[in-house]
Amino acid sequence: MNTDRVIIFDTTLRDGEQCPGASMNLKEKLEVARQLARLNVDVMEAGFPISSPGDWESVNLIAKEVEGPTIVGLARAIEKDIEAAGTAIAPAKKKRIHTFIATSPIHMEKKLKKSPKEVLKMAVKSVKFAKTFTDDVEWSAEDAGRSEIDFLVEIVTAVIEAGATTVNIPDTVGYQMPNAYGKIFAELKARVPNINSCVLSTHCHNDLGLAVANSLSAVQNGARQIECTINGIGERAGNCSLEEAVMSLKVRSDIFGLKTGIVTEEIYRSSRLISRITGFAVQPNKAIVGANAFAHESGIHQDGVLKHASTYEIMKPEQVGVSKTNLVLGKHSGKHALKLRIEDLGYNLNDEELLKTFEKFKILADKKKEIFDEDIVTLLEEESRFAEVYSLTYLQVTAGNRTIPTSTVQIKTENGEVRFAATGDGPVDATYNAIDGIAKLKVEVSDYSIKAITRGQDAIGEVSLIATIDGKKYPGRGASTDIIEASANAYINSINRYCSAIKHKEDIEKTLKGI
Ligand code: KIV
Ligand code: ZN
Repeated sequence: MNTDRVIIFDTTLRDGEQCPGASMNLKEKLEVARQLARLNVDVMEAGFPISSPGDWESVNLIAKEVEGPTIVGLARAIEKDIEAAGTAIAPAKKKRIHTFIATSPIHMEKKLKKSPKEVLKMAVKSVKFAKTFTDDVEWSAEDAGRSEIDFLVEIVTAVIEAGATTVNIPDTVGYQMPNAYGKIFAELKARVPNINSCVLSTHCHNDLGLAVANSLSAVQNGARQIECTINGIGERAGNCSLEEAVMSLKVRSDIFGLKTGIVTEEIYRSSRLISRITGFAVQPNKAIVGANAFAHESGIHQDGVLKHASTYEIMKPEQVGVSKTNLVLGKHSGKHALKLRIEDLGYNLNDEELLKTFEKFKILADKKKEIFDEDIVTLLEEESRFAEVYSLTYLQVTAGNRTIPTSTVQIKTENGEVRFAATGDGPVDATYNAIDGIAKLKVEVSDYSIKAITRGQDAIGEVSLIATIDGKKYPGRGASTDIIEASANAYINSINRYCSAIKHKEDIEKTLKGI
């Protein structure tokens, strides 16, 4: 099928969530799924239902609650996987099963311990079984990038014959180069007799930094579906980044002559949401969504942009949802001005949410003279956090070059407010020790980073970290004009994620026991 429309298949909730430290809880997954629907992705891979009861539940919930995109469940070429995927996606209006099996010599021999003949048989059987749950069946040749082309031609012909409506050719290990990867698609187009009865799909990993380039090359050679993730998150070096692939097709439509259905103005918001939920900060120079993507530092560039934006800008920041407005709010701004600004930023709050945000806005405006759009987005994101078991109500820190850093924290818990003081190697360490004294947990922090997310000397600082609790990693993020408070909030955020994961596990166990 060669149309001028490229299907955008988002796998942030499956391949993206698979990367270490990016796991999301049920509520967060639903929030992401809703945002992906606003972004107008065509297809959303919601999870891998057989992998855990929690995954089945989240795919099922998304299938029930999220309208618009086709909802996909992933399955190996095994009946119980396909059954789990089929039952999980059942409530969706538009649903797809995505089943896969490896086709490269190394995977077939060393991992599956099966001959190509056996693999072909399993692939055909899996597609036929998936068809009993839905007409829309995608089949993937795992490690296609290192598979033999003659075998790919044979197996792709067979799965289409069995009913696959989409055939995906993944570069699972990010090994391919754009020309060679594109050639696989060109050969399949030329040699598979029934190729026009399916949509050809590309799925690239970024191990050599070529995931987007390879995906675009596949599109130039006949692929009409791109599998990708927000911010390019995913296994190892990640997947093809949705925002980069989509904007490449849009900005260079003169080359591609192709369209997507993406509402590009929702890109920045989607990126922020994924970054907040996973705790993975976006590098400042990241294309499209990085903090510097539209910043012009050198005098020559600034002068050029002021005279005519397109001298140095190949796309407008507004096109991807980055607001360039100069309207700055402050402590004299009223609720109505804030409401208009929030609406301009693409958020819709009900009266109660607006009131809560306005209260927080007033507190921030007391600390910070000018409130920029980024400050407001941070407030809104803080507001949409999942249920908090712990929240910081008081923090006092003494530190200096000749004192032992001491921190007193007060935390609101389910059993009321608790105060604790501790010393440490520095003010942040002292604060973390004090929080440990209240939460009674052993927490190890890694990947601590801090960055200014808004402008000016009184900018909001955002702390991201990964906390290991009971052997599992939980991202944490906190923002404040005070970096010790931001550090405390990030730490508490990861502890809240831990508590929510524990509670979720207990709920699932209860459900399974029928309590
Ligand atoms: O990278 C890969 O091969 C995959 C498949 C499951 C499609 O993620
Ligand atoms: Zn993958």
